[in-house]
Amino acid sequence: LPSRIVRAAHGTRLTLGPELAAYHAGPARSGVGLTVLETAAVHPTSTGSVRAYDDGFVPAYRSMLEELHQYPMKLFQQLWHSGRTFNPPDGGPPWSASDLPGPRVAQTDLAARPIGITRRQIDEIVDSFATAAGRVVAAGVDGVEIHSAHGYFLGQFLSPLSNIREDEYGGSLENRMRLLTRILVAVRDVIGNATPIGIRISANEMVPGGLSTEEAAAVSKSLDEAGLIDFLDVSLGSPMNYTKVIGGMEEPLGYELDYSLVLAAAVSVPTIVGGRVTSLAQAEEILREGSAQLVSMVRAHIADPDLMAKSIGGHADRVRPCIGCNQGCVGAAASPGGRFGCTVNPTAASELIEAGLPSARPRTTLVVGAGPAGLEAARVAAERGDTVILCEATQRFGGQLDLARRAPGREEMGRIVDWLVHEVVQLGVEVRMGVTVDADYALRLGADRVIIATGSCPRIDGGQISEPYGQVPGIDLPLVLTSWELIDGAKPSSDRIVVFDDVGHFEAISAAEVALERGYEVILASRLNRPAPLLEAARLETIIKGRLFPKRLEFLPDRRLKSVQSNSVTLESLYGAPDRVVEGTSLVLVGANVPRQGLADELDGRLPAELVGDAWGPRFLQLAIAEGHRAAMRA
Ligand SMILES: Cc1cc2nc3c(=O)[nH]c(=O)nc-3n(C[C@H](O)[C@H](O)[C@H](O)COP(=O)(O)O)c2cc1C
Ligand code: SF4
Repeated sequence: LPSRIVRAAHGTRLTLGPELAAYHAGPARSGVGLTVLETAAVHPTSTGSVRAYDDGFVPAYRSMLEELHQYPMKLFQQLWHSGRTFNPPDGGPPWSASDLPGPRVAQTDLAARPIGITRRQIDEIVDSFATAAGRVVAAGVDGVEIHSAHGYFLGQFLSPLSNIREDEYGGSLENRMRLLTRILVAVRDVIGNATPIGIRISANEMVPGGLSTEEAAAVSKSLDEAGLIDFLDVSLGSPMNYTKVIGGMEEPLGYELDYSLVLAAAVSVPTIVGGRVTSLAQAEEILREGSAQLVSMVRAHIADPDLMAKSIGGHADRVRPCIGCNQGCVGAAASPGGRFGCTVNPTAASELIEAGLPSARPRTTLVVGAGPAGLEAARVAAERGDTVILCEATQRFGGQLDLARRAPGREEMGRIVDWLVHEVVQLGVEVRMGVTVDADYALRLGADRVIIATGSCPRIDGGQISEPYGQVPGIDLPLVLTSWELIDGAKPSSDRIVVFDDVGHFEAISAAEVALERGYEVILASRLNRPAPLLEAARLETIIKGRLFPKRLEFLPDRRLKSVQSNSVTLESLYGAPDRVVEGTSLVLVGANVPRQGLADELDGRLPAELVGDAWGPRFLQLAIAEGHRAAMRA
């Protein structure tokens, strides 16, 4: 391998061929040693990015491998069966070790009852792994990884919680690992000794009664001693505690290592460990410790595919940080266009569309607003060679992120602001703080174009999505404040705070957490039927509930604000349940924001101007950064 840095398998659902090749090419150029390609399903009863159970995928796959093999980075293929965790594409019941329903990755998916497969079906699965391995190796991969981690099909056989079989595939650990052992033997028979074979395993299922670290280490050691594996890729968690599989900013850096290094130390073959390793310095520290030989950095490379080249070149401070938000990548389904991407890196997985261009001619770009959209616009315009002036009305960078980063557990949101500020300074952008730009100012400056990233402000007139034009009597009373005011330090005199959430994202959660931290009792009332449903795709809902519900908080679903009195708030049910009057409270509003478009109106076409981010339409961070980027890229 050209380096000890690995990108473990990660599902992108990008199209096999040029699109996926372009996605992997950046890290390959930058110096990554090994990439494990995302799940290839071995059997029609499994989901997977590639259907490796028939030959249809081979032509596109082969040409993608050929393209990527111009780089020294090696390419392994992860082979898997999804087991009971996803419903099979053919609509039949999921296949598993036993007929025990298990949780899906997403909470709202229907947990169809699986079948505990027969011995004959076990033979079929063994053959399917071997045949699929033969196909991908013949197409040109450098190695194969059998996915037995994360509580999918093979993990379901390994786990005492999902395998209650009474035959030779259940019960003792030796029995539970029998299928995996048979698969490794069969795969080796088909692909021979020249191609490395390894497994991915969870070092702990992180659920009471699940696969323990001792058992996972025993499985690894036994496969190693039997000479069945050439490498061991260690991960963590299962769908029963999915938030540990791809730990977000709530987990510390290197959060898997306490578990994974135990397995790494138990085997003689090279091992891969990872889990929120976000800098090359952190990876090197792990390697120096000596238990693991390879370190995986998945999301760090999604956020910045040039991570290695920048770090090796002495510019580690210029690596765009992964902030562990899990929104653009894991939460792809809820991302713009439902596409895999990255909140902080607008070109991730859009490499073919977002190719870089130098400026057509020297020009001056005025960027108004130093929130994420404005900072990204200024950064990209400066990178393209424009003379850039960035004006910010306040004395602080980051716009709403300056608030978001002050909420409990959300500090890492600020890392992208700090990075953008560092970049614009490095790139020579002229920053003018405390300057409110009006049309005269912009025209006097003689800029060739204006990018307006003036953000949005909270809606405080009581308009709600369930009743956009409705009046809420009492909305002007002093007990009403915005989430911004609360997070910024306002201290209502009541003991109780009603946070009314009309949106369903992180803003209300952060407001509630700030209030709880300051000792208030909180009633989180929502138009929606659960806290933060918009974060479900990012698998954050369970984390949020786990943080909120043990505290002094009551969740009140399906509500609309009816009226505000001097010391109380009345919440009406959307579906006819009795009103709820909360006495002795303040009210914090979280609603659809109002864009600040005054400058665009005032300019009225006298300068080429483009609205981006919330100023164009209040939405979320990923689009703000992406729009700032695209505006700056325009010729
Ligand atoms: C979008 C996404 C998809 C993933 N899909 C897979 C997968 O198909 N197979 C797998 O073994 N791990 C998968 N993972 C887990 C990663 O391989 C890795 O273990 C996890 O992201 C933690 O590492 P990191 O902190 O370096 O990102 C996925 C991770 C992400 C972010
Ligand atoms: S979307 Fe968030 S977690 Fe995913 S790679 Fe980008 S910054 Fe990291």
